[in-house]
Amino acid sequence: MEKLVKILEKIDGRGYKAYKEIKGSYRLDDFSMFIDHVQGDPFASPSKIRVRIPQSAAGFDPFLFSNKSRKAALQDYICRQFNGSIQKYSKGIRRTGKSGLIHIDSGKQEILERTSLEVNERFVEARFYAGLPARGRRVQGKQCISMMAGEIPEIAFSSMLFSSLDQQGLIRFINTSEDQDYLRGQLAGRKLAAFIANGSILPRRSGVSGLPLSRHEAVKFISPPGLEVSLDTLHSGEIKGMGIPEGITIIIGGGFHGKSTLLSAIEMGIYNHIPEDGRDYSVSIDSCVKIRAEEGRSVQEVNISPFISNLPLKKDTHKFSTSNASGSTSQAANIIEALECRSGLLLLDEDTSATNFLIRDSVMQKIVPREKEPITPFIDQVKNIYDELGTSSILVMGGSGDYFDVAHTVIMMDSYRPVLVTGAAKDAIGSVIDKRVRESGTSFGRITERCPLPESIDPYCGRKVRIKSRGLDHIQFGSLDIDLSAVEQVVDPSQLNTISEMILYALKMDYINGDNAIMEILDLVFEDIGTKSLCILSGYDGHPGSYAFARKFEAAAAINRLRSLMVKQKD
Ligand SMILES: Nc1ncnc2c1ncn2[C@@H]1O[C@H](COP(=O)(O)OP(=O)(O)OP(=O)(O)O)[C@@H](O)[C@H]1O
Ligand SMILES: [Mg+2]
Repeated sequence: MEKLVKILEKIDGRGYKAYKEIKGSYRLDDFSMFIDHVQGDPFASPSKIRVRIPQSAAGFDPFLFSNKSRKAALQDYICRQFNGSIQKYSKGIRRTGKSGLIHIDSGKQEILERTSLEVNERFVEARFYAGLPARGRRVQGKQCISMMAGEIPEIAFSSMLFSSLDQQGLIRFINTSEDQDYLRGQLAGRKLAAFIANGSILPRRSGVSGLPLSRHEAVKFISPPGLEVSLDTLHSGEIKGMGIPEGITIIIGGGFHGKSTLLSAIEMGIYNHIPEDGRDYSVSIDSCVKIRAEEGRSVQEVNISPFISNLPLKKDTHKFSTSNASGSTSQAANIIEALECRSGLLLLDEDTSATNFLIRDSVMQKIVPREKEPITPFIDQVKNIYDELGTSSILVMGGSGDYFDVAHTVIMMDSYRPVLVTGAAKDAIGSVIDKRVRESGTSFGRITERCPLPESIDPYCGRKVRIKSRGLDHIQFGSLDIDLSAVEQVVDPSQLNTISEMILYALKMDYINGDNAIMEILDLVFEDIGTKSLCILSGYDGHPGSYAFARKFEAAAAINRLRSLMVKQKD
């Protein structure tokens, strides 16, 4: 560390490029610092730094990271503490550009595996960013010394040592997360698609906040007796709650009674949540995919024929391609693509669906003849999807009772409380005289897998590889923009870093070779990540950058929305 201080004193006041001299590794007793990348100027992306403390000093008992689930939770927790310490000890941005900034990629409501913090038997390592201080474009050596030898060690020692942490809080965090994985692991065996624990707080503070609504404003979730199940946890005993069975479930109820809120909780049940989130014991099967209409998206040779046929101008729906999908065709493509990736649970909300894709009632059937309507609505295929592919569906459907015919379970939200009304719903539909006629054939048919052609996926913009993610919605891939705003289960910008690097990695490894289907490609990528870690995406054993766990479904969604994509259908 003395060496670093000396260099910084020497280059004080020189041009910013002089900072390149500090690249390297430094030590202060047990504390090691690696300056892996030095930014080119004060406005460029901040410099990449790692700090490492050996376990002999950090003192985390191996039991705290004894399996994948606990390790991810421990890392996530320390990362949050590191971030908290930044807020406390960093003097923040000073002078030019990003001067003085210290930033680590850390989580919000979800607990995610990420590359910004690593705990293993040997050490704890934080991988973060720092803006090296400048006045104009001159090195501010003294400010940098205060960061490197003052703020950063202070941040590290207050967050990366077991003894400096709230140990009860840490253990509770890890145990809660492990319990959620354990609960999720029981769903398939109990033939459940999702589980919402009694006492959960599902509503959020606002439409743009992930935080729970305050306890005195929120109505706690209580399962109706008919759906109540009891599941085991490792650390919190038995937990009771609503088990939504596999099959077809309809959520009904008046406007503003909490239907979409329940569906959102199921949607987010693929992730573990932090304690006090309100959804911290509510889980869904891993392969659950939210489906919505997405007018304007591009679609490449998707076989949407189970839903759409006889389009104007005889457009072939076995190989449906468009650069501007309609409401119904986009929703059909979204479903087929999810099924291509073997989704086990589809979630649909009438609020974000194309009405004509969901339903065609008996009156409409009388006026518009079948041959003039290209759409076989979801209601006529949902049962085939379950019977033939084993994929369940949960639909929010307050506007039409026709779905009662095909539903296995009907839940009514009544002032934010679920009531099981399957029997009454079946009686009601049974008593309708002039019912709608079923429109599908007997079978949904086979899912046609598609193999992306490598020449259609170009990460280059000019002569440089250019991939960059922006927020939760956009990836710049080469010269194109991938719009993921309708892919609702992305919760963290770093997931988009992961997804874009996964595509690049699959190209480099030749997994995208024109013969592998999308799912096969992603299986190969995930196999590599599984045997090593997300760090393989950066292909570099220093500072890996900021990547957070993302599922195959969201990665496939990005590939499918690449506007240059070309595919070959598998026979
Ligand atoms: N358990 C709850 N306690 C308190 N407020 C809740 C609860 N659940 C949902 N809310 C709030 O009630 C409002 C309506 O919820 P939601 O959007 O889920 O209704 P909805 O039934 O889908 O309505 P619509 O039919 O109009 O789409 C939201 O502001 C939501 O945050
Ligand atoms: Mg709603």
